[in-house]
Amino acid sequence: MPPPSRLQSIKIVVVGAGSVGVTTAYALLLSGLAAEIVLIDIDKSRALGEVTDMSHAAHYAQARVRVGEYEDCAGATAVIVTAGVNQKPGQTRLDLIKTNYKVFKSIIPQVAHHAPDTILVIATNPVDVLTHAAHRLSGFPVERVIGSGTAMDTTRFRHELSKHFGVNPRNVHAVIVGEHGDSQLPVWSLASIAGMRLRDYAAQKGIPYDEQEMEACSRRTKDAAYEIIQRKGKTNYGVASVLVSILEPIITNGDALVTVSRVGSYAGVDDVALSMPCKLNRSGAHQDVPLLLDEKEKEALRKSAESIKAVLDALEEDGLAE
Ligand SMILES: NC(=O)c1ccc[n+]([C@@H]2O[C@H](COP(=O)([O-])OP(=O)(O)OC[C@H]3O[C@@H](n4cnc5c(N)ncnc54)[C@H](O)[C@@H]3O)[C@@H](O)[C@H]2O)c1
Ligand SMILES: *[C@@H]1O[C@H](CO)[C@@H](O)[C@H](O)[C@H]1NC(C)=O
Repeated sequence: MPPPSRLQSIKIVVVGAGSVGVTTAYALLLSGLAAEIVLIDIDKSRALGEVTDMSHAAHYAQARVRVGEYEDCAGATAVIVTAGVNQKPGQTRLDLIKTNYKVFKSIIPQVAHHAPDTILVIATNPVDVLTHAAHRLSGFPVERVIGSGTAMDTTRFRHELSKHFGVNPRNVHAVIVGEHGDSQLPVWSLASIAGMRLRDYAAQKGIPYDEQEMEACSRRTKDAAYEIIQRKGKTNYGVASVLVSILEPIITNGDALVTVSRVGSYAGVDDVALSMPCKLNRSGAHQDVPLLLDEKEKEALRKSAESIKAVLDALEEDGLAE
């Protein structure tokens, strides 16, 4: 049986057949959003092993999965980049960044060459710095270079709040913006449950609501990845589903608002990538409507932007980023 006709032409490429890459490919396969999924990795044998295994799942999902080369990016609706190395013991954060920057230098220009009209979706960490790098290295307009950014953190935050307030996460409207990292900020001033302010909802339901309780929710959000990594050495399922939720409005031209990372000017800091709610559709990530933050949040966003900018400056001083 051929794939549904509306998706017949949808090809998605995943660069990096490691844990995040293959889990994303598998989630995408089961979603039915793509007719063809191509995996590219420097370790071709590993990629082939993964693809062979996945092709047996594809048998049920009616999509084609295969190993590819950069030429195969031609015609892809989106190219997801999960390739890179993880921090090794004793390695500094900046050393890791330099290593992954070099990995991107070997990947992004090739993707851009073969798929000049595609949308890049970046997951490799540090995702904001590498989204900026991918924008430079591809020469693509800012709306076509999207970092997964705080989409993951926003998901975890909604999950934490939904548990605290005892409602379905779909009814929690709350976002984490800024860096996908320590300087991220929860936007409390705009958080709501189905249109009701958290304070009012809590008061009527008799649920504790104070700074301490809410701090604990945002702390658990921020610590979640550390905790998971301590136990199993990596994270893969959450991020894979988040990546599919970013791809979905791109593939279906869905105009969904998602907190993703993009190059722009934020809180007075120019030419930096961080996450804000963006409208995602067939042409990429658009920042149509600014988030109305309060003064304290604006200050926190500025700090977040500056901490990412400092890393970009350090890369530049090193002569790496040109
Ligand atoms: N953004 C998020 O929310 C989020 C969540 C989890 C992980 N991550 C990040 O995703 C990245 C991947 O994590 P992982 O657990 O899958 O790592 P992994 O080590 O399992 O996989 C990385 C893969 O990249 C490949 N690779 C390395 N250099 C390459 C190159 N030059 N060209 C092609 N392929 C190359 C490796 O062969 C390997 O298969 C990491 O940077 C990690 O920090 C991001
Ligand atoms: C996507 O959204 C942007 C911003 O709202 C809009 O300008 C553009 O036309 C939309 N693109 C498509 C393909 O619908």
